[in-house]
Amino acid sequence: MKAFIENMPKAELHVHIEGTLEPELSFALAKKNNVSLPFDTPQALIAAYDFYDLPSFLKIYYAGMSVLIEEDDFYQLTWDYLAKAASQNIVYAEIFFDPQGHTIRGVAFDTVIKGIRRAQCDAENKLGIRSQLIMCFLRDMSAESAMEHLKLAEPYLDWLVGVGLDSDEFNNPPIKFKDVFALARKWGLKLTMHCDVNQKNTLEHIRQVLEEIEVDRIDHGVNALESDELCELIKSKGLGLTVCPVSNQFVVQSLTSGEIRDMLKRGMKATINSDDPAYFRAYLNENLIALQQEGDFSRSELKTLMANAFSVTWLPESDKRAYL
Ligand code: ADE
Ligand code: ZN
Repeated sequence: MKAFIENMPKAELHVHIEGTLEPELSFALAKKNNVSLPFDTPQALIAAYDFYDLPSFLKIYYAGMSVLIEEDDFYQLTWDYLAKAASQNIVYAEIFFDPQGHTIRGVAFDTVIKGIRRAQCDAENKLGIRSQLIMCFLRDMSAESAMEHLKLAEPYLDWLVGVGLDSDEFNNPPIKFKDVFALARKWGLKLTMHCDVNQKNTLEHIRQVLEEIEVDRIDHGVNALESDELCELIKSKGLGLTVCPVSNQFVVQSLTSGEIRDMLKRGMKATINSDDPAYFRAYLNENLIALQQEGDFSRSELKTLMANAFSVTWLPESDKRAYL
C-alpha cells in the first residue's frame, strides 16, 4: 500500500509555502541574513515544536518567518518544496502564501512574490511539476490591510489563481472579508477560505463561506459533517474540501479518517493535503500513508481522494482532463 501511495501521481491543493520551511534551510538563511535564532541546532528547533491548537501552532509558524528576507530566500523556500513535492510524485500543486506575514516585517510584497514565481517557473521547466499560487489574507488582521494587499497584487494578477483566508479563526468570521473577496472575484480570481477543525462558531463560518462569500473551495471544513444541510449544499455545489489529516491530529488527536470516509460516502469531494509539512513533519505521502493506516482505506478510496483533488483544481478544464 505504501508503494501504491508513493507511485500514484498526485495533486496537492492546501500547502502554505511558509509552512514548508525546513529547519535546515531556516538555519542557513538565518546565518546568511544575520538573524539570530533562539536554538543551537535544527534538531533543537524541531524539539520546540509544541502544537495543540491553532494559536499555539501559529505562534511558532510566524516566528519561523523571520529568516525570510531576500527574493532568493523565497525562491529557495519554494524551490525546495517543489523539488520535494516532485520527488513524491506530486505533478501539480496549488500553493498558499501569506504576504502580510512578510510586509509586516518590512519585506516588500514584490520581493516575496517574485521569488516564489521564479521558483515555480524553474520547477516547471526543470522538474516538470506544475503549480499555481493562491494569496492568503491573515484573518486576524484588518479587512483594510487585506484590501491593501489585494491592491498590491494587482500588477501580478496573472501570477495568481485565487485568494484564500487563513490564520486565527477565533472571532474572525468570513463575513469580515466580504468586500475583499468580492473584489478578488471581480478581478477573476478563485476564492477559498479556511474553516479550521473545531473552531468557535464553525457551522456559522461554513454557512458564511457558502452563502455569503460563495467560495469555490473550502480549506479543511471537516465540521460541516455536523450539519446534513451544509453537507448537501457543499455536495450540490460540487465544492472541494482540502482536508489535512496530520494537521488535524494536532488539534483533535485523530487523522479524521472516519470523517474523511464519511465525506466520501456522502459524495463530497474530500482531498488530502499536508498544510504545513515542515512543521507537522509530514508531506503529502506521509499524510496519505498515515491516513490509510488509521482508517484502513482501500486502493479504490485512495484513488477517489486523488481523483477528487484533480477534479477540483483550478486548472483550465481542458488541462484538468489530462490528469483524470
Ligand atoms: N496558516 C498556516 N497554516 C494554517 C492553518 N492550518 N490554519 C490557519 N492558518 C494557517
Ligand atoms: Zn492551512
